Formats: sequence, C-alpha cells, structure tokens
Amino acid sequence: MENTMESYDVIVIGSGPGGYVCAIRAAQLGLKTACVEGRETLGGTCLNVGCIPSKALLHASHQYHELMNHMPKMGIAAKSVSTNWTQMLSYKNDAIASNTKGIEFLFKKNKIDWIKGWAKIKSSSQIIVEDTLYATKNIVVATGSTPSSLAGVEIDEKRIVSSTGALELRRLPKKMVIIGAGIIGLEIGSIYARLGCEVTVLEYLDHVTPGMDRELSQALQRTLTKQGITFELQSTVQSVEKLSSSVKVKFMDQKSGEHRSHSASVALVATGRRPYTEGLGLQELGVSIKEGGQIDVDENFSTNVSGIFAIGDTIRGPMLAHKAEDEGIVVAERIAGQSAEVNYGVIPSVVYTHPEVAAVGKTEEELKESGQPYRVGKFSLMGNARAKATFAAEGFVKLLSNAETDRILGCHMIGSSAGELIHEICVGMQFGAAAEDLALTCHAHPTLSEAVREAALACGDGAIHS
Ligand code: NAI
Repeated sequence: MENTMESYDVIVIGSGPGGYVCAIRAAQLGLKTACVEGRETLGGTCLNVGCIPSKALLHASHQYHELMNHMPKMGIAAKSVSTNWTQMLSYKNDAIASNTKGIEFLFKKNKIDWIKGWAKIKSSSQIIVEDTLYATKNIVVATGSTPSSLAGVEIDEKRIVSSTGALELRRLPKKMVIIGAGIIGLEIGSIYARLGCEVTVLEYLDHVTPGMDRELSQALQRTLTKQGITFELQSTVQSVEKLSSSVKVKFMDQKSGEHRSHSASVALVATGRRPYTEGLGLQELGVSIKEGGQIDVDENFSTNVSGIFAIGDTIRGPMLAHKAEDEGIVVAERIAGQSAEVNYGVIPSVVYTHPEVAAVGKTEEELKESGQPYRVGKFSLMGNARAKATFAAEGFVKLLSNAETDRILGCHMIGSSAGELIHEICVGMQFGAAAEDLALTCHAHPTLSEAVREAALACGDGAIHS
C-alpha cells in the first residue's frame, strides 16, 4: 500500500454516460475529481459495447437496405452490391474509438484523473484501486448494468450471446434466434435481418417492447415483420442447448401449451439487464441494496451511508444512458451545494430501428388507467410531403393532451428521424406547453417536423393534411 494518499472531493466509479458526465460536471464546479474505470477505454457499456456500436451497425445495415430497396427507384443503381462484414466491424470499432478518445480528451481538459483499475469501496471516504488507497469526500457509484441471462443459460459470447457478443460476431450468422422482443432484441435483430440473416424473435408477452404505447408497439411489430423478422409471441424460452455447430432454443408455446424449438447458428439472449453492483464492497458497508442488485437512494441520489451516492442503471428508473447523464449532472451539482433535479416525467425513449420509434411522457394505456380525461391527436406521415418524397411515409405521430387544459401529456411516434423529432415535444413538456402552443408554432416546410405540428392541430380542430 502506498503511503501518500491522493485525495479528492469526488471519486466517480465507472465512466459510462452517467459516470463520465458526473465527473465533468463536478470538475466544472471546481471539485477535485477522479473517475475509476477498469476497462481499457472510457465510456462504459454504452460507448464500448452498447449504444454506439449498435448505432454504427444499424447505420451501415440501413445504408445497405436503402441501396437495395429505395435507391434504384431514385435512379441510383450500383452494378454489384456486396457487404463486407469485417469492414463493417472495423467501421464500428473506429466509431467506438473516436468517441472513447473524445472522453479522454474531455477528462484532460477538465483536469479529471482517470484512475485505471477496478475500485473497491473501503469506507465512505476511501476506495482501493489495484492496491492503492485514495481518499475522497464523496463517492458516486456509476457502475451501470450487465445482461441478465435466463436460469441455466450460459452466455459464451460466441454462439449464445448477449448484446456484447452480438455486436462482434466474427461471421454473419445464417440464422439467429433472439430471446426477448425488448429494445435490444429488436435493434440487433434489425441489423442482422437487413444483412440477409433469418431472424426469429421469441417473446414471452403477447406484444413487443413492453411498456411502450400499445399502438406504437403494434406498428413496430408490423413494420419489422414486413422487413422479414419472424415473431413468435407468447413463447416462454426454457433452455438453450449448444450443439456441434448450432444452438437449439427450446420454448413453450403458451397458446397451445406445446413444447417447441428453433435451431440457429446464434442465439441472442436479450431478456433484460440488472444493476452491476457486486464486488464493490457496498454490502459490507451496510449500503441498502434491493434483491437483484439495485441500490436504494433518496432524492439526492444518496444511499443510506452518508458520502456514498449512486446513479444510472444501478438505481431505480429506466436503464437509459441519457437518464444516467442527467442524474450524473444533478448529483454533481447537489454535492457542490446547488439545487437541481431530474424531470423524470420528460425522459424520451428511442428505438433505433427503421423507422425509428420515439416516445415521451404517458402512454395512452397509462392515461386510461389513471382515469385522466385526454385527447388524442394523430397524424399519419402519409400526409407529410417531405416524407412522401423520401420513402419515409410509413408511420405516425400520436400526441396526447389533457382534455381540460390541453397540456401535453405524452407523445408516441414511429417514423424516419422520430428520435430527433421527439425533442420538440420534450422541450414543450419541460415548459408545460399545451398542444395548441405547438400548433401555433410555425414549422418549416417541407420538413418531417410538420407532422408533429399536424398532430398538435389534430388535438384541437383538426390537422390540415388529413
Ligand atoms: P427488456 O426488459 O426491454 O426486454 C426483455 C424482453 O424479454 C421482455 O419483453 C420480456 O418479456 C422478454 N423475456 C424475458 N424472459 C423471457 C423468456 N424466458 N422467454 C421469452 N421472452 C422473455 O430488455 P432488453 O431489450 O434486454 O434491454 C435491457 C435494457 O437496456 C432496457 O432497459 C432497455 O431500455 C435498455 N436499452 C435501451 C436502448 C435504447 O434506448 N435505444 C437500446 C438497448 C437497450
């Protein structure tokens, strides 16, 4: 053990979107900050094996799909089109590297020390990394989450993979069985289906993407089915068997009660994630942790042990990078004595399939259940000129507003660039906007954003183009 102990105001454990953003904000506020990360690069799951690599492969496979399907109709034809999976992986790796290096640069710029290694919390004011002790006034746990597999199913990241292995398969599989129709299953399924792989998704529930507005989830399933993905809903996967060169996924068909199976080259287990909080020494210190690993925190993100905070996937709420980022900023500001809070009512959610799916606020099902009177303004992209001119007319915008006050309660859309369009609604909701506020705002023509305005008009006297 070293004698001279480096000491900090804040040590953040984990450099994912929650952790690195927290470290930057703390440093901006004048706190002496370090971030512990054991991976070789900064950025956590999102940058290294999650959001960024999946978006790179979704982008590449989408370009291929466009070239095969829409571009010839626009007069653009290539004599021979081929895909090179190795090159795609290398493009994806470059995308990861440029982002992880970007965080390293931001750490240097903000004078944040990167402590390399895996941290163990010794007390609320000391951590140990690779046998070195560090002192700190505050600890922020931002260690994220890890895939949670099914009982008895061992992920080898080669043939039985989690999202991590699915984003670095050495060869394009001929057939893939995906267990779970959540966001991970559908995004990764889209990549492989576009590249010619036969994709079957087995889902326990009778619908895809649990928690999503039902009309949207049905539209998404329809469109992905058209793209060649097969769905077997109400299927309970029970085991995955590794054969000499394939895998056999056994499931129970809830409708018939029959036991069936699908063989494939690769099985992706996409049945959710759980907080990654083991091995940090939290239990030994008496930090309150729920079964499953979720850390209990109060409104300040403080655990029951003073000086230890937790954010992101390790605590309650949706496991989303941007939710973690917001919590990282707020916890840093609170540690610095400022008041700040996360607006959990306005956290968008995006599925990066094509078309994209984006949502914020209450779903129609939630409003029905609460008994709150609401209005629905729906506008099909078929009525949007820009969408029609660019093969993007599939989808709709559905805006939900309070029937008495007209205040926006939620928005659910499926369509090209929905993940960008949703932010107009987020800003509106943050400011407490009414649907009429959007309807009265001039939107440039021709843009896809006009569909949002039309949905707002549909909450009132009616859209113009429908
Ligand atoms: P999920 O919890 O969203 O979906 C898992 C699905 O697996 C559920 O529909 C569940 O019913 C099904 N399932 C569970 N056990 C099953 C069984 N035995 N047989 C058949 N089906 C079964 O989890 P997912 O997709 O793994 O995502 C994990 C987390 O990562 C989520 O919180 C998600 O929001 C987040 N994420 C977000 C992304 C984004 O914002 N674009 C991208 C990727 C992940």
